[in-house]
Amino acid sequence: MNDTLKLLTIIIRPENSADDDTIEALAEAAFGPGRFARAAFRLREGVEAEDSLSFVATDGEKIIGSVRQTKILIGGRVALVLGPLITDPSLRNLGIGRELMNRALLEAQREGYEYVLLVGDEPYYGKFGFERVKPGSVTLPGPADPMRILGCELVPGAAARYSGPATRFNEEAIGKSLPLV
Ligand SMILES: CC(C)(COP(=O)(O)OP(=O)(O)OC[C@H]1O[C@@H](n2cnc3c(N)ncnc32)[C@H](O)[C@@H]1OP(=O)(O)O)[C@@H](O)C(=O)NCCC(=O)NCCS
Repeated sequence: MNDTLKLLTIIIRPENSADDDTIEALAEAAFGPGRFARAAFRLREGVEAEDSLSFVATDGEKIIGSVRQTKILIGGRVALVLGPLITDPSLRNLGIGRELMNRALLEAQREGYEYVLLVGDEPYYGKFGFERVKPGSVTLPGPADPMRILGCELVPGAAARYSGPATRFNEEAIGKSLPLV
């Protein structure tokens, strides 16, 4: 008989810079070096994820999941790109991904963002309100399967205001005094 019982005490908290190496290791294990070529990676390249909108799941000291959100521009308008979302392979299907997603989207909405973009599986992300972006309405800086380009409205009707090229966030380009969204 196996008499070992392991209980998890999972906490979801905002990410901080001390988490970087562990998150990077999770990403390397999940996606390998191919991740650098992904359109979503290029969109985030050189732009720090928003710490207040990026979360880790921890069990004690151990990071067992991560989700990041990074500012982008879509047609010159500020939005977020969500990803990567990764959970520890030995702890999948326990709802950790769901909790990370719910927290990330809730905080984004609280901070006044209207729209979140990602490249991923609609059957998974659909549960959180993501829908396929109308074909051709948003273009990415790299190859991406159009069926996997998804958007989530944090404000009803927001998707109609987001079309055009998705590009890296650049504060100078939009003017520092411009409202958030
Ligand atoms: C995707 C991922 C983050 C989900 O994490 P998780 O903690 O297992 O997620 P949850 O426990 O909240 O959800 C699990 C449910 O989602 C389903 N699911 C997981 N990945 C899925 C996918 N790609 N498409 C559809 N459903 C998926 C599971 O089958 C399970 O379904 P159930 O609730 O009906 O049993 C995790 O599998 C992972 O890290 N994968 C590798 C990295 C990755 O692919 N990230 C997403 C990029 S698109």
